[in-house]
Amino acid sequence: MRILKKHDYGPVTGYEFGWSPVGRPLMTAYVYRIGPVLIDTAFAHVRKDIINILKADPPDSVFLTHHHEDHGGNASAIKKRFNVPVYGHRLTAQKLEKKYRILPYQRLIWGAGEPVEVTPFDDKWEGMGFTLVPVHAPGHSKDHTVYLETRNGWLFSGDIYLGDRIRYFRSDEKIADQITSIKKILSLDFEALFCGHNPRPEDGKKFLARKLAFLEDFYGNVAALAIKGMEEKEIMHTLNLTEDRFILWLCFGNVSMKHMVRSVIDSLMDQQHFPSMPP
Ligand SMILES: [Fe+2]
Repeated sequence: MRILKKHDYGPVTGYEFGWSPVGRPLMTAYVYRIGPVLIDTAFAHVRKDIINILKADPPDSVFLTHHHEDHGGNASAIKKRFNVPVYGHRLTAQKLEKKYRILPYQRLIWGAGEPVEVTPFDDKWEGMGFTLVPVHAPGHSKDHTVYLETRNGWLFSGDIYLGDRIRYFRSDEKIADQITSIKKILSLDFEALFCGHNPRPEDGKKFLARKLAFLEDFYGNVAALAIKGMEEKEIMHTLNLTEDRFILWLCFGNVSMKHMVRSVIDSLMDQQHFPSMPP
């Protein structure tokens, strides 16, 4: 099943893509367009669709929030087809300069991306009445970067929000870095939160603040028990944290609640002491 929707948010257009071999897609992914700029590129399974959309009015540059296959999956195809530069964090550039291994579930849900030359971007972009400023916001991934459009108060937030509450992490996500990044982002001046999967065009800051409260609460609860010497399983049982069995099965255990709990414990270990809250 394919989903392709166009959402108009004033001068911002959101293209929502979904794909699934059977039934409704578990998740859709958004590509945003402001003026000549495209932010993120969706995933390989919808490559023909996005190229067709862009044919009528090709972008003159592409910005990536991070390297994950549902954001950078068509960067190479768009760059080749329209001869446009692709910009991103230097870590995104490093990650995408050659083919990297993805897991079977990632190949099934999103498809494999292709290597692409990404130009490191750490300054601001200005044009057509817009100013786009990159803000490095690691935690979801090391390279994760959000883009603030300063004149209108739009934040293109990649995967930093996703929802007020979440139920699982990928194995490489870092909760303490996410908390630090969200605090940094909340100090910025914006209203609309253009999330890569769940846009909140109004009151975006309120929604992101709810996510921060959830993560801090989760961190504090898990840390309190870890400091007492409890192990992952016991912590999950005590806090009544359950796994989504389908997601666990589909992703071969790479996406789970256990990874959220483990991320708190890893953060405590990194600090070599057991404070109840992240720095
Ligand atoms: Fe991601």
